[in-house]
Amino acid sequence: MTINFREQAVSGVQKLQPYQPGKPVEELERELGISNIIKLASNENPLGISPKALAALQKGLSELAIYPDGAGFNLKQALARKFGVNTNQITLGNGSNDILELITRAYLDPNRGVVMSEHAFAVYYISSQAVGAQLQIAQANPSDAAMPYGHNLDNMLHAIQDNTAVLFLANPNNPTGTWFKSEELYHFLKQVPERVVVVLDEAYTEYVTDTDFPDALPWLKEFPNLIITRTFSKIYGMAALRVGYALSSPDIADMLNRVRQPFNVNSLALLAAEAALGDDEHLQRSKDTNTAGLKQWQAACAKQGWEYVPTQGNFITINCERSGVEVFNALLREGVIVRPIANYGMPNYVRITVGTPEQNERCIAALAKVLKA
Ligand SMILES: Cc1ncc(COP(=O)(O)O)c(C=O)c1O
Repeated sequence: MTINFREQAVSGVQKLQPYQPGKPVEELERELGISNIIKLASNENPLGISPKALAALQKGLSELAIYPDGAGFNLKQALARKFGVNTNQITLGNGSNDILELITRAYLDPNRGVVMSEHAFAVYYISSQAVGAQLQIAQANPSDAAMPYGHNLDNMLHAIQDNTAVLFLANPNNPTGTWFKSEELYHFLKQVPERVVVVLDEAYTEYVTDTDFPDALPWLKEFPNLIITRTFSKIYGMAALRVGYALSSPDIADMLNRVRQPFNVNSLALLAAEAALGDDEHLQRSKDTNTAGLKQWQAACAKQGWEYVPTQGNFITINCERSGVEVFNALLREGVIVRPIANYGMPNYVRITVGTPEQNERCIAALAKVLKA
């Protein structure tokens, strides 16, 4: 008898679709035989890694035979100093995706429910589904709302059931770029039952310019069910190294630590992240580049009549008024990689990462050509 190893997988995994990453530059080079490609598909920092982090990496190269510090002592100290928390409130991850998965493994199982919004970051769905949790997907704002396609906090509250154990919020969200203001988020947190672990994913928080954006860190004292997740993959320009972190109550951090692999963050990543935290200049330059780039995109959208979703991230999500996958494919032939988001329930949109002024200009021109064709 032949055994079907698809059917042998646990039921949550059988129903999963793999995560679709941005198309790598090398892949497009191979496929089309072209060079001079720009990738604006994975919300990476066009300025790259901080020079201080790069120097730290070089120093770390002589220690590669040694296991990393599994406790991440130095990086935790640096994070604790920067954010005024205790080190026992910090969990380190192999990217913040790792943290999201630690949360689902620690707090979800097939008898428990998890709430997330439509159009929310895909890993909430994938990680929750993998452990067989009961998914409650709350309807997002309609396309004509002030924050179109954004999470609707009332709908999320209503989606909470007796068995809900985890609720995921992205602020700002990817792929929409939408966000919550301070007061509405605080009011929401007050209403969520205390037993529900609220994950506030702040992967893009350093890019935010809205002065009403929540500073959630002080709320950790008031809400022991709150977990804030962040990453070094975006503004810190270290996506390849894979480092993220969570700030929470010590109890939650203790539980996440129990499911964590002993050496989940490698030593080069630990060193680079610590050094990157000390480079405010690179951080500011990266933020300024993004703020200027978003203005460039918004001006282009206004000029071309392209509708876009309001954003506080390092990307802009544009309505192509036709299949986003077709526009993505046509842009590939122009040597520009963006991200279609039909898999996020937005089939007519593409998400474009803000690049350098030159990259933005090239992508704007390519998009204008493709949309006129
Ligand atoms: C909202 C959000 N959260 C988390 C992540 C995970 O990033 P990483 O695992 O690189 O930290 C991403 C990456 O795109 C994201 O957009």
